[in-house]
Amino acid sequence: MNQQFTPAASAVMGVMVSENHNVSPPFGEALFCRRLTLAGARHHLKVYVFTAEGILGDGSGFEGYQYTRGKWINVSFPVPDIIYDRVSYRDPRQLQLTRQKLAHITEAGHQFQYLARGLSGKWNVYQSLKRRKIFLPYLPKTAKYKDSRQLARWLHQHDNEVFLKPHSGTHGKMTLHIRLVNEDQHLMLTGRDRNNALFQKHFHEWETGAAWVDRFIGERAFIIQPYLQLTDSDGRPFDVRVLMQKNESGRWSLTGMAVRLGEKDSVTSNLHGGGTAVEAGRFLTLEFGESAAEMIFGTIRRLSAEIPEYLESCFGRLAELGIDFGIDRKGRVWIIEVNSKPGRSAFFQIGDQMSARKSVENPVMYARYLWLRQLRRVNS
Ligand SMILES: Nc1ncnc2c1ncn2[C@@H]1O[C@H](COP(=O)(O)OP(=O)(O)O)[C@@H](O)[C@H]1O
Ligand SMILES: [Mg+2]
Repeated sequence: MNQQFTPAASAVMGVMVSENHNVSPPFGEALFCRRLTLAGARHHLKVYVFTAEGILGDGSGFEGYQYTRGKWINVSFPVPDIIYDRVSYRDPRQLQLTRQKLAHITEAGHQFQYLARGLSGKWNVYQSLKRRKIFLPYLPKTAKYKDSRQLARWLHQHDNEVFLKPHSGTHGKMTLHIRLVNEDQHLMLTGRDRNNALFQKHFHEWETGAAWVDRFIGERAFIIQPYLQLTDSDGRPFDVRVLMQKNESGRWSLTGMAVRLGEKDSVTSNLHGGGTAVEAGRFLTLEFGESAAEMIFGTIRRLSAEIPEYLESCFGRLAELGIDFGIDRKGRVWIIEVNSKPGRSAFFQIGDQMSARKSVENPVMYARYLWLRQLRRVNS
C-alpha cells in the first residue's frame, strides 16, 4: 500500500536511480541510497528514491521509495527541493525523455534544483580538457574511431598497440586492447564484452580481424587511444581513483583516493570487472619508491584540484567527480577518465572510514547548502 505524504519540514532530496526488477528493492544502488537516507536524517534532509517511471505524468509529484525503520517502503511524495540524478544513460533518448518528464514538473509550477548537471561522455570531456594547456601533457592522444584504415594508421604510429573504448561506456565494459604482431600481420585482441566478461581473439589475417573490430563497435561512438602500459610490476592493470566533491559550503575538496587493481591480463582495473581496491600511498610507494610516489601524488593532487572548476565552466554545475588517473611504467601520470556519477565502494573496500563517510555525507551537505541558498534568495 502507498503511504500518503506529509508536508516536508526540512529540505527534501529525491535520488533518481535506474529501475532493476532483478533485485529487491527494484532499483540500483539501494545500499548507497540507504546510506544517503541515514546521513540525511543526521543533517535535516529527507531522502526519497525514484526511477524515471515514478515521475507522475501530470507533473504533480512522484511515486517511489523511502527507507524507514530498517526497510524500503513504497511512497508517494511531493516534488523534492533537490534532485540527485544517479542514472547512467546509455541511450541519449532515455536522458531526453527523463529530462522532458522533469520539465513538466517545472511547467506545472513546482520548483526543484538539480544537485548537478552531468558530463556528456568521454570524447566531449577530452575535447574540453584539451583546451587548457595545463592538462595537455597528461592527456593521452585521442580520436573518434572511424574505420579500419584509421586503425591501421594508429597501430603503425603507436608501436602496434592501441586501446578502444566507448564514448559513453562505464565499468570498463566494451574496452578493447588491440595488438598487431607485425611480421605476419596477426591481430591479437583482448577485451571486455557488454557484460564485462573478459575475452581474447586471435586473427591470422588483418582483414578478418579488422572486420571483427568493426562489428564489435557497430553503430556506437568509440574513441581510440595509444595503448598505455598502465600496469604494475606484476603486469596487473591499475588506476588511481580520486573522488572530488563539493562540501557543506559549496566548495570543492578531495574526499579520498584509492588504487583499483585488476588481475593480470584483465585489460581494465574497474571494480565492476573484478578489480580490488587497495590503499594508494602504500601501493605507489612499493611500486615506484618513496620520492617518485611523492611526485605522482603531487601531480594527481594538482590536477584533481584544477579539473572540477574547469569542467563546471564547460558543462554547468557539478557536485562530485570521480577522476581516473593511469600511471605508466615510467611513472608518468595520465588523465584517463572523469565520471560525474562516481561510485564510492573503493573507500568502503579499503576501510578508509573517513573518506567513505564523507563520500556519502558530502552530497547531502551540498544539497542542504543549495536548498538554504535558494531559501535565502526567495526571502530576500
Ligand atoms: N589508453 C589506455 N591504455 C591502456 N589501458 C587503458 C586505456 N584507457 C583506459 N584503460 C583501462 O581501461 C579502464 C577503463 O577505462 P575508462 O576510460 O576509465 O572507462 P570506463 O568508463 O569504462 O571506466 C581504465 O581504468 C584502465 O584500466
Ligand atoms: Mg573508468
